Amino acid sequence: MLDQLKQLETEALSAFAATQNMQDLEAARVAYLGRKGRMSDIMSQLPSLSNEEKRAAGQMANEVKAAIEGAFIAAQARIESANSAANSERAWIDMTLPGKQPSVGHVHLTTQAIEDIMTIFSKLGFNRQRHPEADWDYFAFESLNMPKDHPARDEWETFFIADPGKDAVQTGDMGKVVLTPHTSNAQVREMQKGKLPIRMINIGKCYRRQATARHLPMFHQFEGLMIDENVSITDLRGVFDFFVKRFFGENTKTRLRPFHFRFTEPSFELDISCTVCSGEGFVNGAKCKLCKGGWLELGGAGMVHPNVLKAGGIDPKKYNGFAFGWGVERTAMMRSGVNIDDIRIMYRNDLRFLKQF
Ligand code: PHE
Repeated sequence: MLDQLKQLETEALSAFAATQNMQDLEAARVAYLGRKGRMSDIMSQLPSLSNEEKRAAGQMANEVKAAIEGAFIAAQARIESANSAANSERAWIDMTLPGKQPSVGHVHLTTQAIEDIMTIFSKLGFNRQRHPEADWDYFAFESLNMPKDHPARDEWETFFIADPGKDAVQTGDMGKVVLTPHTSNAQVREMQKGKLPIRMINIGKCYRRQATARHLPMFHQFEGLMIDENVSITDLRGVFDFFVKRFFGENTKTRLRPFHFRFTEPSFELDISCTVCSGEGFVNGAKCKLCKGGWLELGGAGMVHPNVLKAGGIDPKKYNGFAFGWGVERTAMMRSGVNIDDIRIMYRNDLRFLKQF
């Protein structure tokens, strides 16, 4: 039996040393140390030995078992470390490779235009003020020299709010609440703050009951208001020119065309030379597709009407000023020189369109 044990030890040690993976190792463990394995097979002979022989065989069996278990643990450690080396080889990271670029977006075309507009006007001392985008009829129309039922109101296809809500504060007869159809409601509101001179830019959302290829039910305007002593049309022209040259380019020409608004007198439409044909009206002998005869219409303007100054608590004999109101989307599209045949694409959130600006 002692010889058998010695023989078993030699065999087991070389078997464990030869294992290459966990399955082989487990198979070897079962074969040598398992309940029905070689070790317990040999030990089953123990009862047939004399007492003296039993003592010698038991001692030897303990030594052999310890040696085989030691070989098992060593083989297990060897296989595990080989596996983890292989794993870390697979998971190896090259820190010098360029990383994945996060995709960087940009602000919407309208927001870009608003930022640029503000940067330019702030150079002339205009400050951005915030005025309501849902306001009383009084500020949107009546204080602007448009009494109730005046036909001029028809031009602003206005949304009325049926119930302004219990939090609405109303003093005097302010009429109904409207979604501001233009940013001109800011004029009298700004005057009523009681601080002169005024150099305001109000940029806000406007709403009109219109949805066509050329009109959006929601769009933006920027309203300029300057009130001081001795303000003249020349000042309006100067400010207009300053803005246009910086926003559309140094070579852009400007034009004031007589027009009519109830809240300015005199009133103008302001035009700029076309950004595509440079005011020629023709591109390579063909009629320019963007403009009419070389000019693009930017928006309305004029000298503030005395009645509007009065509504704002300002003495028209002492002070005067000018106001203008232009559409942001329109201004942005005019700069790009892209003649889009449907303005609604600006708010369809189609990235193929938005990424171009
Ligand atoms: N509010 C006018 C519009 O929406 C534009 C305008 C503003 C005209 C200020 C004159 C002065 O058409």
